Amino acid sequence: MPRRKNIKMQKPKIKEVKEKNASILFSRLKGMKDILFDEYKYWDLVIKKATELARAYGFRRIETPVLENTKLYERSTGKGSDIVTKEMYTFIDKNGEKISLRPEATPSLVRAYIEHGMFNLPQPVKMFWLGPIFRHDKPQAGRYRQATQFDLEIFGEEAPVADVLLILLAYNFFCELQVNVQIQINSIGCEECRKEYLVKLLEFYKERGRRSKLCGDCKKRIVKNPLRLLDCKEEKCLEAREEAPQIVDYLCDSCREHFIKVLEYLDELDINYNLNPYLVRGLDYYNRTVFEIWAIEEEGGAQGKLALGGGGRYDGLVKYMGGRPTPACGFAVGIERTITKIREKNIPLKSEEGDLIFLAQLGEQARRKAFAIFEELRRAGFKVRQAFTKDSLKVQLEEANRIGAKFSLILGQKEVMDGTILFRDMDSGIQEIVNQKRIKEDIEKKLNLNKGK
Ligand code: HAM
Repeated sequence: MPRRKNIKMQKPKIKEVKEKNASILFSRLKGMKDILFDEYKYWDLVIKKATELARAYGFRRIETPVLENTKLYERSTGKGSDIVTKEMYTFIDKNGEKISLRPEATPSLVRAYIEHGMFNLPQPVKMFWLGPIFRHDKPQAGRYRQATQFDLEIFGEEAPVADVLLILLAYNFFCELQVNVQIQINSIGCEECRKEYLVKLLEFYKERGRRSKLCGDCKKRIVKNPLRLLDCKEEKCLEAREEAPQIVDYLCDSCREHFIKVLEYLDELDINYNLNPYLVRGLDYYNRTVFEIWAIEEEGGAQGKLALGGGGRYDGLVKYMGGRPTPACGFAVGIERTITKIREKNIPLKSEEGDLIFLAQLGEQARRKAFAIFEELRRAGFKVRQAFTKDSLKVQLEEANRIGAKFSLILGQKEVMDGTILFRDMDSGIQEIVNQKRIKEDIEKKLNLNKGK
């Protein structure tokens, strides 16, 4: 019998929660976030603004699955990108297929455009998308492992007006949320104009020992993706890149003309932008216009350590992914980072709910009747609120104050017998008795009177 080789089984490295007691406390995963009640009003505001603007500019909503074949990202986001090499949540499913949680939306949207034959629709096809993305990056303020993006894409339009429409929408999104931003913009040209530029860039880094001064990551980038040397945030790399040649000086005629048109439009629209020769973006698919949205800090300077959004043109990607040649461009905004900026400014948010009416009850019989009145008012379209689990009138009126109700309706034993209800103005505290049968008309009247004030 052949001797069995001593095969060493490699144990998967799985961190287990050690169970000391039968009951253990779970906490959320590192870099993941819960959104609690008080924060939700900001989410409502931002999501409403995003959908309202997207629709106003003619974008239609689309959703795609959270999981995709890993190759989709390797091919589009790029095998050499940080996202694919370091940050994807990838695993083998029960069918042995290698799949990943989406680290960005664009590859799925390109796949959907091709898979559903959207090139047969009138072009351009303008879509927007809202949802979570997953990147296993080092967590820090503003960087999560699950983050939410508002993403817009335009397929089938080569003209600079498409780039401008996206930038205008992004700019308005932040301005209307009262977040001061500056657009950082550059053109990285097409494959042809980049060839000559990359030769010059490499020559520059080889001169005067600059290459040896670069950080570890950049020493690898200089071989694999030299353009990315320009957007490294390490101090020594920033020093080394001073006086580096600028790609805009190497653009071919048609790329230059395209970029100039984009800038002319931005000037006309009075959009605050900065021509940033070092902006190259970290995803492989871009060509021509690239841009990011940076917050303007209190001192007045734009700060791009954590961009609020970014995007650009990717004219070659649809064809590269198996579709017809289709020029395209898009951008995505980070919702968590946007909300952080809004919260930093302490802008009081107006209640989106409108005039609230609180229905209070006292005693078992009144509570039963109050249920029926509540349903009647809610179905009639009034914004009525309640605290039926509470017995104390004082506690109920405190709740009415907390939610900012305009009026409270108070129903007690006596009112049930009389067929009346007390109508209380929460600002003045004035109360009057009204007939239950006329509640709706009376509320209407009071709300209209209130509007006139
Ligand atoms: P991106 O620059 O990787 O571009 O991400 C866009 C925005 O998403 C960032 O500016 C940031 O606000 C937010 N974001 C990204 N990762 C995180 C994170 N880990 N934590 C918090 N926020 C984050 C893209 O994803 C491209 N797909 C954009 C695009 C669309 N280009 C063309 N079309």
